Amino acid sequence: MTRAQAQVFIATSLDGFIARPDGSLDWLLQAQATAPAGEDFGYAAFMAGIDALVMGRKTFETVLAFDPWPFPDHPVHVMSRSDAVTVPEALGHGVSMTRLAPADLLQQLPHTGVQCVYLDGGELIQAFLAADLVDRMTLTTVPVLLGSGRRLFGPLPADRVWTIDGVRHWDNGFVQARYSRARFDKVVA
Ligand SMILES: NC(=O)c1ccc[n+]([C@@H]2O[C@H](COP(=O)([O-])OP(=O)(O)OC[C@H]3O[C@@H](n4cnc5c(N)ncnc54)[C@H](OP(=O)(O)O)[C@@H]3O)[C@@H](O)[C@H]2O)c1
Repeated sequence: MTRAQAQVFIATSLDGFIARPDGSLDWLLQAQATAPAGEDFGYAAFMAGIDALVMGRKTFETVLAFDPWPFPDHPVHVMSRSDAVTVPEALGHGVSMTRLAPADLLQQLPHTGVQCVYLDGGELIQAFLAADLVDRMTLTTVPVLLGSGRRLFGPLPADRVWTIDGVRHWDNGFVQARYSRARFDKVVA
């Protein structure tokens, strides 16, 4: 069975940060408040195409504070190498912790009916990129420089080349680009 596909849908500052050093998202919430009424920047359409989320433990801790729980209709797999967080009973069987490596998790998920996952969290996305397991990325750039914070991208063992699937922009300055991983080596082989 082929592995599950993995997609990223994330907002970054102009200088490539997804959160301030302390994890706060005030800059993003302020920017989103400038959006036209009802504009979701393609989020609902993206969510309609995914079967489950794979989330870094730190993003999970942020999302736990949201009320209501934002992913009632999707299984959420939280990746952690520690016992730093436990899943509240109220979330039932919808949320599970996993210590599987990225490749093993994507191999296992199709056995549970999951063909496409939404990767969320900077360190987590970096781990999947390092293993060349990210197939598509939708990056929304917010017109603000933060100067410091949690990075979306980090070191890689090799270049990762992408093709562009589309670009949109909004009057509030958000620019959204959609990319697919270009695995030319596989085409040539
Ligand atoms: N701008 C946006 O759209 C956006 C989107 C998502 C999140 N955020 C923000 O980004 C911040 C969190 O991102 P982050 O980059 O700091 O952390 P993260 O990726 O959410 O979580 C990192 C943690 O995930 C676990 N992890 C990561 N890779 C792993 C691997 N290969 N195997 C096992 N476990 C792995 C580790 O947990 P352990 O330490 O427990 O081992 C690691 O410490 C939060 O503030 C969140 O609100 C922003």
